[in-house]
Amino acid sequence: MKDLEKILSELETKVKKIEEEGDLNNLRVEYLGKKGCITALSAKIGELPIEEKKTFGAELNRVKSKATELIEAKKKEIDDRILNEKLAKEDIDVTLPSTPIPTGAPNILENIIEEVEDVFMSMGYDVVDGPEIEEDHYNFELLNIPKGHPARDAQDTFYIEDETMLLRSQTSPVQARTMLAAGGDKPIRMICPGKTYRRDADDATHSHQFMQIEGLLVDKNISLSDLKGTFDVIAKKLFGEDVKTRFRPSYYQFTEPSVETDVSCFACKGEGCPICKNTGWITVSGAGMVHPNVLSNCGYDPKVWSGFAFGFGAERLAMLKYGVNDVRTFYQTDLRESKTFDRKDV
Ligand code: DAH
Repeated sequence: MKDLEKILSELETKVKKIEEEGDLNNLRVEYLGKKGCITALSAKIGELPIEEKKTFGAELNRVKSKATELIEAKKKEIDDRILNEKLAKEDIDVTLPSTPIPTGAPNILENIIEEVEDVFMSMGYDVVDGPEIEEDHYNFELLNIPKGHPARDAQDTFYIEDETMLLRSQTSPVQARTMLAAGGDKPIRMICPGKTYRRDADDATHSHQFMQIEGLLVDKNISLSDLKGTFDVIAKKLFGEDVKTRFRPSYYQFTEPSVETDVSCFACKGEGCPICKNTGWITVSGAGMVHPNVLSNCGYDPKVWSGFAFGFGAERLAMLKYGVNDVRTFYQTDLRESKTFDRKDV
């Protein structure tokens, strides 16, 4: 019993002096390891007279757990110290100014497209996608523009290899694809923003690649007044509650009748200014009633179904809204340009 007390007080003194984890481990082995002195005493129990066995055993257990406790407490002390030293070393001064990281901003064209998408989605339209490498069949033929038709001249097209594949010159082929996919028996409400290509020489108002936002609605008993009403709502949401709208007659091969849709100039409120070329009006899209030939080409019976379609030029919308006067601005990844636009009003 005396040995036990001695061992414990000896251990206590040694533990107090220890500072390193390695030394503590050695001490643990020395006392509690397989060949440790406390463990060795357990082997002695067998040699004791029966009446002492019980008390010695109990005392030995107490000493064992006390020794474990002492070592564990020291271990925690060492761990805490190491952690605190580490924290002190890696301390971050959160008040230091950070190094500015130059970041880009969304291209304003992308912002315009998102804004238009939001407006149309709020009216139940789906946003759909279509291929940029397109078949002549969808880009022209289904849209009532057969081979050799002069209407093709207006869209100077990039053909690929032979004359069956091309870079789409408009997003209108997505109308045909959407109708065909719908199967001719369901109403449709969709818009399709996307890239289009024409063999134009790049200048301030032309780009060989530009973006359109196509729209199509097909249902029963749709008339030109539905197009007018829809356009009116859209124009107000995009350009402000006080804009006025008007239609002017136009011609597209895939709509009949066809119109140009105008909004009263949001810059001068219709008074006349350089943006509206002193007319008070700005044209924002081509539109019209889907031509019966297009409906039937795409599986919709024109006696049962009717619809309207429209196509916005995304660059044109962005140029008008932000007073950009060179279309190339959108494609010259110059961060200074995108930073110019106050994105809060996008
Ligand atoms: N695709 C026409 C173009 O590129 C724009 C257009 C006009 C689209 C009238 C339409 C539409 O859907 O109905 O010039």
